[in-house]
Amino acid sequence: MAIIQMIDLTKKFGKLTAVDHLNLSIEEGEIFGFLGPNGAGKTTTLLMLVTVIKPTEGKAIVGGYDITREPDKARQLIGIAFQDPKLMWVMTPWEVLNWHAKVCGLTSSERKERVRWALTELDLWGDRYKSVHAFSGGMRKRVEIAKILIQRPKIAIIDEPTTQIDIVGKHKIWNMIRELKDEGSTIILATNELYEADLLSDRVAIMHRGKLLVCDSPKKLKDSIVGGDLIEIILEKEAPKITIEELKNINRVVEVLVLKPNHLRIYLNRAEEILPQITEFFIKTHLPIRSIRMSEPSLDDVFAHYTGLTIEEAEK
Ligand SMILES: Nc1ncnc2c1ncn2[C@@H]1O[C@H](COP(=O)(O)OP(=O)(O)OP(=O)(O)O)[C@@H](O)[C@H]1O
Ligand SMILES: [Mg+2]
Repeated sequence: MAIIQMIDLTKKFGKLTAVDHLNLSIEEGEIFGFLGPNGAGKTTTLLMLVTVIKPTEGKAIVGGYDITREPDKARQLIGIAFQDPKLMWVMTPWEVLNWHAKVCGLTSSERKERVRWALTELDLWGDRYKSVHAFSGGMRKRVEIAKILIQRPKIAIIDEPTTQIDIVGKHKIWNMIRELKDEGSTIILATNELYEADLLSDRVAIMHRGKLLVCDSPKKLKDSIVGGDLIEIILEKEAPKITIEELKNINRVVEVLVLKPNHLRIYLNRAEEILPQITEFFIKTHLPIRSIRMSEPSLDDVFAHYTGLTIEEAEK
């Protein structure tokens, strides 16, 4: 069931259309990733969903409530961790998080337990009485993320969960986001880290210049790139020209590059399904294989493919 529906959701800032007739549904319980180059409109979309800014056109329904007509009801279901933490600079993380927990309606025992847990998990326990003012960028971001982990909202919106955070911290936050999902939250995240999106998201949407380019599971998006997979083969002997031509005729093989006479790179679709056919082909042609390596396209390839495409089209 869709927990969020965006219908022609649009935001204009003067002449600039930051979000352009976005139509998307987000299913209850999924982790949904928003991707797109800087300025694509990710943050603007999220800020409309959390009712911080108003749409210029179109609408969004959050948990059954229209964000323009019943913003208060929609807001009750949502927690957000902002891209740029707007923390109270004079406060300590201890104060910020206890205050947040109180506003979210947690009981005093829940508050005590969750604030302690979040501070410990995010390695902030030792610094809990320091002023946030003296914190590094990554530490501030941790406090911002802690807010949502303490709140455990029905819909958690996280804008760039791990920018500025070190690799150990990233892994911790990724695990905590997964736990939040397991506890029943629907999670929407915007990120510029494709690895993060791939790791966490059930589905991702790629935006570009305010428009939705594509939306699907990371696996399906990777499969959608024609010739996106590749198999690299090193043979015991040189491959004759005729063999290369025959190889190209195998269904789903898109291109064959001869790197060296005995070293081939085969571009194809869904390589895992035709790998047996490829090895059999070389056995039949009496060309023993020395080594074979298969690799899948990453979400980086998908991103470059879709965003690159539109840039080219725009130039045309
Ligand atoms: N308050 C505002 N006033 C005017 N223009 C704005 C405002 N907020 C955003 N924009 C513009 O809207 C466009 C989309 O910005 P947005 O912050 O949504 O992008 P983003 O996809 O989150 O990018 P990033 O990856 O850099 O976080 C940009 O061109 C930005 O300059
Ligand atoms: Mg942003």
